[in-house]
Amino acid sequence: MRRTTVISVAVAVIALAGTAAAQSPTAAPPAPAATPAPAPAAAPPPPKPPATETTPANIRLIAGNCLVCHSESASAAGGMPILAGQDAKVIAAAFREFRDGKRHGTIMPRISKGYDDGVVDAVSAYLSKTK
Ligand code: HEC
Repeated sequence: MRRTTVISVAVAVIALAGTAAAQSPTAAPPAPAATPAPAPAAAPPPPKPPATETTPANIRLIAGNCLVCHSESASAAGGMPILAGQDAKVIAAAFREFRDGKRHGTIMPRISKGYDDGVVDAVSAYLSKTK
């Protein structure tokens, strides 16, 4: 009983001490209202869309998408052009033609939009090395 009281008092004292510390005049004073607001930091550049990143993982991912339609095996391709093993320059040139509106197609003109030259070259190189 007595011990409980002592502990209770000790807890109360600690709690009060905490309150006092929080209100102590040594706490940082609020910034004076006259201080002009700091100039806003320059906005960070917007993140690059994934289609412009030529990291190996991203190129593998993009090439994987191409290979969903452009099968690697003639038997599964069903008339679809096979890209795997083709010359990288030939793949890239055809891709750019779709992208730049110089070649017609059912779907490639849409797919090719948004891939910059760095990605086109990297994906084409990847596909040319795919067997
Ligand atoms: C949804 C299916 C599909 C996907 C995904 C796809 N393609 Fe195609 N691709 C086609 C079709 C269909 C054609 C024939 C042209 C057309 O109709 O657009 C074609 C044609 C091509 C050609 C011309 C080949 C030739 O010999 O004439 C190239 C190069 C090509 N695609 C590259 C790519 C690349 C690179 C990717 C991945 C970024 C890709 N394609 C993703 C369907 C696809």
